[in-house]
Amino acid sequence: MSDSTQPDSSSNKGAHSQASQSARPVSRSGRFSSGPDAEVSRFTESISFDSRMWRQDIRGSIAHARMLKSIGILDPEEFGSIEQGLNQIGKEIEAGSFPWDEALEDVHMNIEAVLTQRVPAGAKLHTGRSRNDQVALDTRLWVKDAIRQVQEEIRDFQKALIDLAERSGKTIIPGYTHLQRAQPVYFAHHCLAYVEMLDRDWGRFEDTWKRTNACPLGCGALAGSTLPLDREMTAKELGFVDETGEPALCQNSMDAVSDRDYLIEFCSAASITAIHFSRYCEDIILWASSEFDFIKIADAFTTGSSLMPQKKNPDLAELTRGKTGRVIGSLMTLLTLVKGLPMTYNRDLQEDKEPLFDAFDTIHSSTRILAAMTRAMEPKSKQCLAAASDPALLATDLADYLVRKGMAFRKAHHVVGEVVAYAEKQEIALDQIPAEAMASIHPDLTPDSLQVFDLETGINSRKIKGSPGWDQVQSELQRWKRGSVKES
Ligand code: ARG
Repeated sequence: MSDSTQPDSSSNKGAHSQASQSARPVSRSGRFSSGPDAEVSRFTESISFDSRMWRQDIRGSIAHARMLKSIGILDPEEFGSIEQGLNQIGKEIEAGSFPWDEALEDVHMNIEAVLTQRVPAGAKLHTGRSRNDQVALDTRLWVKDAIRQVQEEIRDFQKALIDLAERSGKTIIPGYTHLQRAQPVYFAHHCLAYVEMLDRDWGRFEDTWKRTNACPLGCGALAGSTLPLDREMTAKELGFVDETGEPALCQNSMDAVSDRDYLIEFCSAASITAIHFSRYCEDIILWASSEFDFIKIADAFTTGSSLMPQKKNPDLAELTRGKTGRVIGSLMTLLTLVKGLPMTYNRDLQEDKEPLFDAFDTIHSSTRILAAMTRAMEPKSKQCLAAASDPALLATDLADYLVRKGMAFRKAHHVVGEVVAYAEKQEIALDQIPAEAMASIHPDLTPDSLQVFDLETGINSRKIKGSPGWDQVQSELQRWKRGSVKES
């Protein structure tokens, strides 16, 4: 992703300190004669966070100006001076020398005001445009870029999980239900379960991208414009095109400026992703505990205790699990924000940006941390095997053995229940029950029945699609490596 499209991760910390006291000639109505006092200005400003969309704002303004030139509202010279002025502003913002002014409220007015001060034609830039379609445009552009970045990072995390699956080789762990040991699986199968989840997450972001890909420019405050704006031209220049290259436009001017469902979708996709992250973290935390002891987390991803010298805490996994709350919080904020707003634009909508940015930042940093932590994680095969070696984990296989001999599964389940009860009573493992005792429980339990308790044979007889037998796991691993994880 090129720098010019990357959602700027730098917050505009300097906005307030750089605030110039002079009011700039921005073209808000002359009706507002006295400026807002400091507290009101602080309450209403959004520049401290929406300056993050400066790249999108400048891109949108240049496209709009080029279109104004094409319909004869700007002459080529005026357009040239606007384009150059905006590019210069971009350079100053990047260098940190742009004079952000809180009194000018937001990124749109700050950039336009400085442009107009320097370039007389700047006063024509806002022709046929409102901050309402401008802010909708900027957020759509920002989200489209953000989605591409998140998708790339999800792909990388999937690759890290695939590598871990491969590294784990023939390591077997107990699979759990109700946090009770249930049936043995390859460690790799467990890793690939997360690869599947992440794939659906990627797809949800893709769906969101498709619906965000509609250009609101030209919708004005809410009712379009009397001027013959060429909406197709700006849409195309800004990359709002469908699969066939046709411009993708918001079709209703009121909808275009009033809804923020694309932000809600983004935070919804992010929340589901965060939940998957959180569950993965929970597995890591359990696995790294001495009770499980299935993995070693690299020191870089743990911290010690200030009091207990022996501790090595999985803080990074815990923090990632904890940060899930922020993402879900962002989704709730947006849902609550939009619920009950009358058509069309309402200033409440300015509150959409901080949750959006926070959800993005959290997913972005979490994905990167989890990928790195996964790459530095080692399964402890011996300990895993010890946990998976209880023959009770293959009790279902004994029921399947009886089914293969023609017994109804419900009956087989009952018979195996008796076998388990016998072993418990005798305080022996299932595979230690004498052949005569087995036969006395049910004549179908001939001596060969004890063979089902061989761990490797048991796990590898799971050959059907989606199951954790060696052949299946290998073919899944190959499928993912061959590029089911596409380069995004
Ligand atoms: N900063 C505003 C926002 O984020 C921009 C749009 C302002 N429009 C208006 N009519 N006051 O929503």
